Amino acid sequence: MTANAYAKINIFLDILGKLDNGYHSLFMVMQSVSLRDKITVIKRDDGKILIECDTPGVPCNEKNTAYKAAKYFFEEAKIKGGVTISIEKNIPHEAGLAGGSADAAAVLKILNEIYETNFSDEKLCQIGLKVGSDVPFCIVGGTCLCQNTGGVISKLPPLKECFVVLAKPEKGVSTPQAYADADSAYIYHPDCLRMLDCCEKGDFEGICKYAGNVFEQVVEVPERVEIKKIMGENNCSLCQMSGSGPTVFGLFEKEEDANSAAEKIKNICKDVYVSKTIDKIF
Ligand code: C5P
Repeated sequence: MTANAYAKINIFLDILGKLDNGYHSLFMVMQSVSLRDKITVIKRDDGKILIECDTPGVPCNEKNTAYKAAKYFFEEAKIKGGVTISIEKNIPHEAGLAGGSADAAAVLKILNEIYETNFSDEKLCQIGLKVGSDVPFCIVGGTCLCQNTGGVISKLPPLKECFVVLAKPEKGVSTPQAYADADSAYIYHPDCLRMLDCCEKGDFEGICKYAGNVFEQVVEVPERVEIKKIMGENNCSLCQMSGSGPTVFGLFEKEEDANSAAEKIKNICKDVYVSKTIDKIF
């Protein structure tokens, strides 16, 4: 069975505080976008979990989020299952786009189907959270408010359909380091409640006005200023870093503006994608 694994962007990301377990309590508005990996899962009889990937550099072992998702699923379902998981990668990794989490979410969805376990999305989210903080969102998808460490999810009205330019500078960002840097900085916090109010009302202008990502204050991405300048010159409605970076996204109402921005940004970084917001992911 095959499923798409969609990338996400953070329209809003605030760190509210550090928890006793070292993780951080977050307030995030996340959005699915059409850039996607393709995940194929085939049952096998020998009880092994094997990973295949078409992109070099992706670990095809127990470190892969898809492997972890299958392992935790079988443990939870008390099934002695075996699978071959093939990953067709399009979402860049270490990019702030939840590429690994999207793959894990798709694996959980597929396993729930092919083993007829009938787990609710809530249950799949609990399993997914063991794999990574963004996995629960990647199970639900669309436009969501995600809180605590990522496992408390509320669906929001779908964001206005727009084109999304994703520009990924070359140098990856270490997420644990980004959190550590945030811990040791004095951070200006964006207005969570105003943002939520705009989301609930479907006020796109307000959403763009109150959007924010605190990681922009602590994660240095040298290309960010120039990318934002070009997106702005091409009529983007919002331009911001996603997650802990380094990807910078722009929302555009018109396709020709998105394409024109993307073409110009290719002079700064080579990984540039034009995608769209999406609401239904599975
Ligand atoms: O769960 P995920 O793989 O996205 O997390 C990567 C790292 O980011 C964690 O090991 C942790 O250091 C940090 N993190 C955090 N608080 C969160 C999410 C992630 O401190 N809510």
